[in-house]
Amino acid sequence: MSQLYELSEVAEQTGKKGKPCWIIIKGNVYDVTKFLSEHPGGEDLLLEYGGKDASKAFRQAGHSSDAEKELKNFKIGELRTTTTTPATAPIQVQPTLDQDRQQRVSSPAPTDDAQPMKKSSGSGFLCCC
Ligand code: HEM
Repeated sequence: MSQLYELSEVAEQTGKKGKPCWIIIKGNVYDVTKFLSEHPGGEDLLLEYGGKDASKAFRQAGHSSDAEKELKNFKIGELRTTTTTPATAPIQVQPTLDQDRQQRVSSPAPTDDAQPMKKSSGSGFLCCC
């Protein structure tokens, strides 16, 4: 499984002050530190997005499919997106509407006044009342 990173972890790797330069593109985390000086679009553009989500900028720059393929070489993991519920959180269980209805169906009410459904009088029309 891919390594998962918190947004806050990625945000620290800005590529400035001797730190690595990580960017996020479509939920994936890339370490582009070694690619900074090689980027045809310039080092500054990558640094501008260091520690940030560059999905939109990457798309808007109109990169070739080769550039898309190159991305794979820099992938270090994925962004953690789901927040897990703490195990200690109390879980309240309430019957759902369906369960409630099922209970009522399984304990039938007295059927004194219940009448068998009458057949239609040949008109082909069934009354549902
Ligand atoms: C890991 C991320 C990136 C990779 C691997 C990458 C790769 C490349 C490559 C291979 C090219 C040459 C043209 C092409 O093949 O499309 C290029 C050009 C370019 N890139 Fe990136 N790029 C990345 C991120 C970014 C970001 C975040 C921006 C922000 C705007 C950006 C802006 C540009 C621009 C403007 C050009 C055009 C340069 C020109 O034609 O003069 N790139 N990039």
